[in-house]
Amino acid sequence: MQHSYETFYRESIESPDKFWAEAAEKLHWYTKWHHVLDDANPPFYRWFAGGITNTCYNALDRHVDEGRGSETAVIYDSPVTGAKERYTFREFRDRVALFAGALQSRGVRKGDRVIIYMPMIPEAVIAMLACARIGAIHSVVFGGFASHELAVRIDDCKPKVIISASCGIERDKVIDYKRLLDFAIELAHFKPEICIIHQRDRLKAQLNEERDLTWKQALLGAEPAPCVPVESSDPLYILYTSGTTGKPKGVVRDNGGHMVALKWSMEHVYGVKPGETYWAASDIGWVVGHSYIVYGPLLNGNATIIFEGKPVGTPDPGVFWRIIEEYNVSVFFTAPTAFRAIKKEDPKGTYIRKHDLTGFRTLFLAGERADPDTVKWAEEHLNVPVIDHWWQTETGWAIAANCQGIEPGDVKYGSASKAVPGYDVKVVNQDGESLPAGQMGDIVIGHPLPPGTMLTLWKADNLFIDSYMSKYPGNYLTSDAGYIDEDGYLFIMSRTDDIINVAGHRLSTGAIEAELCAHPDVAESAVIGVADDLKGEVPVGFLVLKSGVDTPHAQIVKHVIEYVRENIGPVASFKKAVIVERLPKTRSGKILRGTMRKIANSEEYTMPATIDDPVILDEIKAALQTMGYAQK
Ligand code: COA
Ligand code: AMP
Repeated sequence: MQHSYETFYRESIESPDKFWAEAAEKLHWYTKWHHVLDDANPPFYRWFAGGITNTCYNALDRHVDEGRGSETAVIYDSPVTGAKERYTFREFRDRVALFAGALQSRGVRKGDRVIIYMPMIPEAVIAMLACARIGAIHSVVFGGFASHELAVRIDDCKPKVIISASCGIERDKVIDYKRLLDFAIELAHFKPEICIIHQRDRLKAQLNEERDLTWKQALLGAEPAPCVPVESSDPLYILYTSGTTGKPKGVVRDNGGHMVALKWSMEHVYGVKPGETYWAASDIGWVVGHSYIVYGPLLNGNATIIFEGKPVGTPDPGVFWRIIEEYNVSVFFTAPTAFRAIKKEDPKGTYIRKHDLTGFRTLFLAGERADPDTVKWAEEHLNVPVIDHWWQTETGWAIAANCQGIEPGDVKYGSASKAVPGYDVKVVNQDGESLPAGQMGDIVIGHPLPPGTMLTLWKADNLFIDSYMSKYPGNYLTSDAGYIDEDGYLFIMSRTDDIINVAGHRLSTGAIEAELCAHPDVAESAVIGVADDLKGEVPVGFLVLKSGVDTPHAQIVKHVIEYVRENIGPVASFKKAVIVERLPKTRSGKILRGTMRKIANSEEYTMPATIDDPVILDEIKAALQTMGYAQK
């Protein structure tokens, strides 16, 4: 008999041990766990304690051993190079095993860190799974981050090896990854022993003979490596994400809990069956890419797609539909911003109608709030359910969703639907008391978090507690605010920290402010996220200069824009800044960024009672108007 959502949810909260043990039985363990949940040291919960497993075995070898080795595992489609490749589970397993052997022969062992800084090519996924195979901990850094951000991550996780490529291709631009990597290593205090560089035809990299070798050289004489058994709670990967301090936080994911949660989610959240093609059009540098380009689909026996392109311009706004048709994609996942880009270029959905999408069942959106206009446009033109779901790098998989594999519920525009089984989601006031339906507050998740969520922050247990676990003891602080309606539907309204969301990419305004303040003429700065039709939000900077500065203002603005691009990366989309006399502050000196944001977006605001000098807000409005904002 089909269970209802309510039954699933209740079981997951009341009997988590039973619930998750059943899910874990579907995977391979060398040694079974002795405790489903080890809660001896809260908030450091450990799932499947004592269990010994290997994530790569479960993602690849298991399917080969169970007779599905000739089914498609990985499809690579690159409109920017014209390449199309397909690999079966057996072929991909063999490539991964060989590269894992190459890493082992270079001294990489269980627990060693390996940074992967690569574009969307099969070698990136091979590198990730090769690390998993030998118990090394990978840390993928998104290609849109510049050298400084990469250097910070090198210093934090101290990789033995860095794997990269000679270049990435962004529409028609060639990005010299090797130059960015070399500069990052120069900036970093910690130096990796070896860099393995995949040479691409478009641009060949210069190698440093003492440190670098090509991917091909690395494979010479390598023997395929078997899977190395690891503890369930051994780290699989570290993924850095923006934090409020400006210093990225290294989210640590385990092996056992992660594979159980992701496999469960493929079946129950996304409603996909082994053998189907599942496509997440994201980047492996983000959590969506980790969970739903690489691990989730492969663990569930699905074909996954590595797409090296953009929703528009590679070559046109029909590329998503071409791929869905060509590979018979059943379930597709992307960010709302990608749809806004398509809608802008193809408002009538003309490109959609050129393709046969009969095999396409469901569209999932995440990464930012799915605005109702975009959802309705997608529903109208695609004629499939459009499901907004909410999650974070920290959780690794959906906290709230309309679970298609359990009991598809009604869609409410603007809502990410209901809490996913395993997550005890609550909305609380500042005293930590649960709020009634409809009232806005901090969104928290009661302990223990389900399997697959973060173990801790890399080498920073105290920061983990301070950032997430201490404000409301017994609960995880999501740093998102919102409300739950009378039907249990969750509405995510805003972040409560300095994080902004630019084209589905998570950025810290604090980190951008730090770059602005590094300019010798700048005394003080503030960065806010301003609404943008395409990217959801874009950062805008305000600069207060030191007294006596006579550098032309336009030159200072140009320089700070370059600083952010060079140090954080082009992905910050930081294109606008303005010089002002003063910043609006409270009497205690806190910059009123929230009020500035409301003015920029022409939203209503109340004059903060504690404002130091209300006249400054008029100056800020005038400055915003020079940049095309605050028009009403
Ligand atoms: N390597 C190097 N540079 C990169 C990069 C990468 N992997 N990804 C992005 N960049 C660069 C871009 O080339 C661009 O540079 P530019 O300023 O020189 O033009 C800049 O970073 C901003 O990139 P992007 O945010 O992608 O903007 P865009 O204008 O090129 O494209 C969208 C706009 C909406 C099409 C694009 O942002 C998109 O596809 N977003 C979906 C995001 C997503 O999937 N998020 C995952 C979370 S689910
Ligand atoms: P990231 O860690 O990069 O995945 O970013 C996580 C943040 O993105 C969340 O804390 C939210 O602020 C935002 N976010 C992700 N998905 C959604 C969604 N479906 N609705 C609203 N906000 C979302």
